[in-house]
Amino acid sequence: MERKRIVSGMRPTGKLHLGHYYGALQNWVRLQEEYECFYFVADWHALTTEYANPGIIKESIYDMVIDWLSVGIMSPESTVFIQSSVPEHAELHLMLSMITPLAWLERNPTYKEQQQELREKDIHTHGFLGYPVLQAADIIIYKAHKVPVGVDQVPHVELTREIARRFNFLYQETFPLPEPLLAETPKILGLDGRKMSKSYNNAIFLSDPPEVVDKKVAEMFTDPQRVRRRDPGNPDICNVFSLHKLYSDVDDVEMIDHDCRTGKIGCVECKKMLSPRVIEFLAPIRGRRMDYVNHRDAIEEVLAHGNKHARAIAKENLREAREAMGV
Ligand code: TRP
Ligand code: SF4
Repeated sequence: MERKRIVSGMRPTGKLHLGHYYGALQNWVRLQEEYECFYFVADWHALTTEYANPGIIKESIYDMVIDWLSVGIMSPESTVFIQSSVPEHAELHLMLSMITPLAWLERNPTYKEQQQELREKDIHTHGFLGYPVLQAADIIIYKAHKVPVGVDQVPHVELTREIARRFNFLYQETFPLPEPLLAETPKILGLDGRKMSKSYNNAIFLSDPPEVVDKKVAEMFTDPQRVRRRDPGNPDICNVFSLHKLYSDVDDVEMIDHDCRTGKIGCVECKKMLSPRVIEFLAPIRGRRMDYVNHRDAIEEVLAHGNKHARAIAKENLREAREAMGV
């Protein structure tokens, strides 16, 4: 039986951290067992917000692909490629932009949110408004069935379906309607309890060496009500505890849960237990990462292969779309 196809992309904006791992990558790795996977670096999408400072995009591409391979994305089993190396995405984006009503884009919730959040950047641009149209092109150019994304991206996949449906209706049945594929993801917060993000400076990176992890864990915010060692704590609101749930065995988790609430364990001790476990988790990833850093040609090869394979399929499907549209 043919495997169903999935497509997903990530914007290259820096090295990846635990938030990326638990929010997306772990799922990407698992999905490889069941699906034909296309994973790409969305460098054009990064350009919608980083257009004034595009250097960071180029720098991040290799870092990001190395992180992907180091956590277990496999090539050539999965097709790993760069969006801008498959210019067919851009042509389909142009075609789709003709049939996408402005109102669909203006009411897109992430559009409004980002305008609010990224106040320091001027993103009142044509490209930024059209972000989901490009995303729709990314997805349907491979006739993908499913799109693994986080909840924040579901509106974009829904918009993709609307656009594909409209294309099929106006011309002829060409694109399957893709569905979002949501996974259960553990909540990972940054060192300060806010969302883990490079821009908040609160992330543990996949590439962090042991001494950096030690230092970061030691600096983590805990239950703010716990001022003195004997104060009872509340692990439910503690970030350190949420990491223990990922890296410690059930007995330890229960013990910490109990001892924290009764003031029997101090935060310093609790963190000292955690830190080596995070380091142990990262060790094999870091090892593979170092291999790749020293073998850049291996990365070039992965991308050359992925770009070529993705492009062959994109070309064929674009040809069909042109024919359907009659251009
Ligand atoms: N917009 C996505 C994000 O910010 C990245 C992305 C671009 C994407 N094109 C895609 C995700 C196609 C899935 C499919 O996370
Ligand atoms: Fe958090 Fe551990 Fe301190 Fe409890 S003891 S508040 S779980 S760091």
